[in-house]
Amino acid sequence: MFIKTQIADITFDNCLMNAAGVYCMTKEELEQIVASQAATFVTKTATLQSRPGNPEPRYRDVGLNSINSMGLPNLGLDYYLDLLTNDPHQEQRFLSISPMNADDTPTLFSKIKQHDFKGFVELNLSCPNIPGKAQIAYDFDQTQRILDQVFDLYQGKLGVKLPPYFDQAHFDQMASILNQYPLTFINSINSLGNGIMIDDLSMMIAPKQGFGGIGGPCIKPWALANVHAFYQRLKPEIQIIGTGGVTCGRDVFEHILCGASMVQVGTLLHQKGPQVFERLIQELKDEMATYGYQTLADFKGKVQYL
Ligand code: SIN
Repeated sequence: MFIKTQIADITFDNCLMNAAGVYCMTKEELEQIVASQAATFVTKTATLQSRPGNPEPRYRDVGLNSINSMGLPNLGLDYYLDLLTNDPHQEQRFLSISPMNADDTPTLFSKIKQHDFKGFVELNLSCPNIPGKAQIAYDFDQTQRILDQVFDLYQGKLGVKLPPYFDQAHFDQMASILNQYPLTFINSINSLGNGIMIDDLSMMIAPKQGFGGIGGPCIKPWALANVHAFYQRLKPEIQIIGTGGVTCGRDVFEHILCGASMVQVGTLLHQKGPQVFERLIQELKDEMATYGYQTLADFKGKVQYL
């Protein structure tokens, strides 16, 4: 049974990797992903300068789910570029980046070009946790302006990480913007922004008076909906990375059934550690065997309608 997958011209041994934010802040964390059965990794979203992020407590596991308001803590773009450009498998790696303001974008991309990074760039347009800043990809005009600017500056393999959309008209609008660009991939979805979780009488996290991004199995219906909505609407050369709600191989299977080429794992990876990929791969293969599928292509995007 083959669970190899492909994004652009790169073939991956399987379809699983971490989600940005989990096991990817430092070289040591990323080495743990490399040592696991995940096919590749994405770095923590890098900003031009390093950032301490939001005050603690800023991440809580809540049963199988999670709430976070990390606020993009990271070691700065140079750290991740140095690490990636010394990686013999850099073509397979994903560098996540986010501009903190419009002036950052040219510098971010000129550094990526200076380093001659050959992997994938994931432009994070969906962090819900920066106090005072809106999630960029909820503003369609701003998203278009950023993509115009980015593709003037950069011709490498680039994708965008999107927030969840909840309305068919928004799927239509965003897809018609994305289809105008030579994007390599999209990643759907980031956490469901601005939820609250309460413990006794208090918010569970401190930043933004307790509002944070929700991850885990409770967001799977919206993750699958976004993956499938974009699978139906995007030109076929834009691959989809599905993220959200994975707790078992069946969840990975459903992401692929909805159209994902690759699947990222966040909350579960945070809770169980990188050895969880071994279980997910075995369970995915078991699920495929149940239906007699030999390859991911046998069922990718082929969810049936009643
Ligand atoms: C964070 O650092 O706040 C989480 C990253 C994200 O949601 O994009």
